Amino acid sequence: MEALTVGVAGLGHWGPNLARNFDDLPGSRLKWLCDRDEERLAAHGHRHPEAETTTRFEDLLEDPDVDAVVVATPVVTHFELTRDALLAGKHVFVEKPLALSSTWAEQLAELAEERGLVLMPGHLLLYHPGVAKLKELVDSGELGRILYVYGNRQNLGQIRRDENALWSLGAHDLSVILHLVGEEPAEAWARGESFLTEGVEDVVFCFIRFPSGVVAHMHLSWLDPHKMRRMTVVGDQKMAVFDDMELERKVTVYDKRPEQQTETYGEWMTRTGDIFVPKIPNDEPLRLECQHFLSLVRGDREPAGVARDGLAVVRSLELLQASLERTAV
Ligand SMILES: NC(=O)c1ccc[n+]([C@@H]2O[C@H](COP(=O)([O-])OP(=O)(O)OC[C@H]3O[C@@H](n4cnc5c(N)ncnc54)[C@H](O)[C@@H]3O)[C@@H](O)[C@H]2O)c1
Repeated sequence: MEALTVGVAGLGHWGPNLARNFDDLPGSRLKWLCDRDEERLAAHGHRHPEAETTTRFEDLLEDPDVDAVVVATPVVTHFELTRDALLAGKHVFVEKPLALSSTWAEQLAELAEERGLVLMPGHLLLYHPGVAKLKELVDSGELGRILYVYGNRQNLGQIRRDENALWSLGAHDLSVILHLVGEEPAEAWARGESFLTEGVEDVVFCFIRFPSGVVAHMHLSWLDPHKMRRMTVVGDQKMAVFDDMELERKVTVYDKRPEQQTETYGEWMTRTGDIFVPKIPNDEPLRLECQHFLSLVRGDREPAGVARDGLAVVRSLELLQASLERTAV
């Protein structure tokens, strides 16, 4: 199998992780590293001595050897860089969120479809074995009818000035919630507050209702004492939690539910049964995500709408953002 040639643009906090994976994986060859910042470029160039370095994104597009471009730059640049790469005939892996508006995200998805190119937004959690287990529990009916889902993504963490907590953190949880529920929101409400940078919400609370009646909630904050990366799914038969901060208990299934007692005139009682911790493979989600992208480019599997899934996330973010703006004081 011939390795695919990849160029990575954006070597800030996240891009180097992608560069490491595309350099390590046997299915790809890291040919280019690109960043506007010369210092970062030099630092990462040392770590990948076989890759060429450039401050010009165009160098990746003009190189006929390059099969795929990885865009790990700030979200404001995603549309332009991704569009240019697709127009140059390159497959694109672009970090989440796909773009800053659904109009732009739609244009990118259409462009990729027209040109027969892979466009994969980097929704990392969709490649997490713990999320795959949660999806299996939902789809198999083990949890019963899904009543509601909620995500906690909190930390005293990286504070951004160009994106609020909704776009920066919410993109992760929304991708999982949409994947689990299999629908797009019918209604969405969000409230948030900006404490550190005017107009950039540090904490956002979201409430979503899906057409089926399933509801979801997200608590997103980079100004919080708890480091939480958790998704809880409440079904009418069982409940399950995916907790990415846990090392050995990534997913826990609770045999807990309310039961109606006929002998006590239909009163609701709680049933508390076993707590089960399924084994979750220890594979690095980012490596699985990069492998998935390479297999799509090689045509080993159907793209199955990865770009459209990313578009759905952007549409939901937009709905929530509109609500946030409506309710801002
Ligand atoms: N999947 C995840 O878990 C995860 C985690 C963190 C960040 N991200 C995503 O990764 C992306 C980058 O985030 P970050 O935290 O690394 O940002 P960052 O600001 O730390 O780094 C961005 C880098 O891009 C470079 N850059 C900007 N414009 C450029 C251009 N036109 N050409 C080349 N280089 C350019 C900057 O110089 C900088 O080095 C964002 O979309 C973010 O949402 C994803």
